This record gives sequence, structure tokens and C-alpha cells, in this order.
Amino acid sequence: MFWKIVVVLLIGFLAWAYQALCPPSPRICGSRGGPVVEAPRIKLRDGRHLAYKELGVPKERAKYKIILSHAFGSSRHEVSIATSEVVEKLGIHFVCFDRPGYGQSDPNPKRTIKSTALDIEELADQLELGSKFYIIGISMGGQVLWGCLKYIPHRLAGAALIAPVVNYWWSGFPSNLSTEVYNQQFVADQWALRVAHHAPWLLYWWNTQKWFPSSSVEAERPNITAPDLKVLSKVAHRLNTREYATQQGIYESLHRDMKVAFGKWEFSPMDLDNSFSDGQGSVHLWHGIEDGIVPVTLQRYIVQKLPWIKYHELPDAGHLFIYGDSSIQDEVLNSLLTE
Ligand SMILES: *[C@@H]1O[C@H](CO)[C@@H](O)[C@H](O)[C@H]1NC(C)=O
Ligand SMILES: *[C@@H]1O[C@H](CO)[C@@H](O)[C@H](O)[C@H]1NC(C)=O
Repeated sequence: MFWKIVVVLLIGFLAWAYQALCPPSPRICGSRGGPVVEAPRIKLRDGRHLAYKELGVPKERAKYKIILSHAFGSSRHEVSIATSEVVEKLGIHFVCFDRPGYGQSDPNPKRTIKSTALDIEELADQLELGSKFYIIGISMGGQVLWGCLKYIPHRLAGAALIAPVVNYWWSGFPSNLSTEVYNQQFVADQWALRVAHHAPWLLYWWNTQKWFPSSSVEAERPNITAPDLKVLSKVAHRLNTREYATQQGIYESLHRDMKVAFGKWEFSPMDLDNSFSDGQGSVHLWHGIEDGIVPVTLQRYIVQKLPWIKYHELPDAGHLFIYGDSSIQDEVLNSLLTE
């Protein structure tokens, strides 16, 4: 009798654990009961769709074509930089896309840094952006750019990384430095990253359970510094597109993003070679000294190892500077396109 009860309890526990660990299936756009498709989309080689949005001057008339890779919990609607005054002056056409699993782009359960770089190449080809194009990546979207520099460098005319998120496990960091900086984060974030890196299968449960605090960024309580508060007081309403961004479910958007970003990479950005050694194009990186989310010390270390990156360090800037003052948006576009 006793053993029967134990077995029944064990089966019950396993069933519960299985349910708690397994994310629900995503609500695919365009499927029955799923969100409707109203954005323009391309169909990729493997059958997935990628939703995008075009802005700036029409493609036919544009001198420069830029693909934008959005931040964590954001979407193709994150286009502050496309409202800069220099867009018309320089003749820039923008394509912003929902990264896989976000907004109206189909999830990619096999998503990697490489797969997203190849998605970008296909997007550029199907939209006929030409043999070379520019890319700008913001925060988590900046990681995608390291993938482009690694896997499709021959397609790039230039790249701008805006406060790109760092993976503490990239090889090349002195371990005393990465450990020191890692330990300065909120304890909840240390755990969320540890789970994403060491036990990605646990991440859905970790991020949805209520016993321990989960990632501060996912919970929308990140380490906001004074300059970021200033930006937020102006544009918080515009930045809030999370509902659209995660409409197919938080797992294939937010959690998949964390798994890829903080998981095990095939390469370290610090091992990359300069893809523009012929001087035709450049890579820029902007970072705020008061960034409370991505520590400036690690970014400094990366650019010191990659002297071909043009590094712009901004005093009095936090993580969100790109959404604030339009003069920084102008500066990014001018440096990327005309320097
Ligand atoms: C890490 O160790 C190196 C070499 O021992 C040292 O030069 C450096 O200052 C240390 N960095 C930190 C952040 O402790
Ligand atoms: C918050 O950001 C500040 C400024 O970058 C940094 O000094 C501090 O260590 C950060 N705190 C946490 C808990 O991440």
C-alpha cells in the first residue's frame, strides 16, 4: 500500500514538473486563434515568415539601406532612430524586422546567433537591398550584429552596435574581471543568467515561478540610472510595445532571446577579425558610462581587444540613450554612413 502511494505521488509530481518545465506552445500568427497577420512578411527558405516595416526615404531613391535589429521585448516598431532629421538629408531607407518569435515573425525553435544572421541576409535579398547594406543593433539586438560580422561580413557596408548586451561567458574576458562585474548585478539577474547559460531547459519555469525573484529585465524592473529615468520620462509611452512583441508567447520571444544571448556561443566576438580591412566600411560601438544593465567595463575590454571598432563612450548616458535626445541619433547615422 505504502509503495503504491509513493508511486502515485511520484507520477503526480513528475506530471506536475513536466508541465511546469514545458513552455506552452506559441500562439503562431495567422494560425487558428492566434494573432492576425497584417504586417508585410517574407517567407524564408525553411518556411518561417519574417515580419518587417519600412521607413525613411523610399528604397528606389535611397542612397543608404539600413536593417535595424531591435532590443529585448521590443519589435519592428522600435524605430526612434528612423525619425532623425538626417534620414531625409542623407537619403536613408530603413527596414526594421521582428526578430524570430517576436511580433508577427514565426518562432524559430532552432534559433542561434548564426540563424538570425542568415535570416537577415535573406531579408536583404528578398527586399532587394543590394549586395551590401548597413545594420544597426540595439541592446539585445546588438548581439545579432556580432553574428552578422562573423557569418555574413561580405554583405555588410557597415555596422553600429548600440549598448550591445554582453555574454559573461565569452572567451577572452579575464575571469577576475567578468566575475567581479557579474557579481555586481542584482542577485536575481545572476541567477537568471546562470539558468539561461547552464540549464536552459529550466528557463521557462525559472522565469515564471514565484518562489525566487526572476530576471529584473524580464520583470521590467531593471537597474535604471538617472540618465535613463530622464529618457523614460519623455518616451516611455513609445517604448512600450511589449504586448505586441510577445503576442505569440513569452517563451519563443523573451526566453529564447535569453537562451541564445547568454547560452554557449560558437565563437567569441573578441576573436573576430576586421571585416573592413580594405577601409570600405566600419564598425562602431556606442556605450553609456552610466549603463546599469550592460557594464561599461566589459564593453571597454572588448573594444580594447578589437581596435578596429570605432568606440564612442558617452558620459551622462545610460542604457536607453538612443531613444532620448535626437542629436545622438543623428550622430550615430552620420558616423556610420559618412565617416
Ligand atoms: C585581473 O588580473 C589582472 C592580472 O593579474 C590584473 O592586471 C587586473 O587588474 C585584474 N582585474 C581586476 C578587475 O581585478
Ligand atoms: C547599476 O548601475 C550602476 C551604473 O552603471 C552600477 O554602478 C551598479 O553596479 C549597477 N547595479 C546593479 C545591481 O546592477
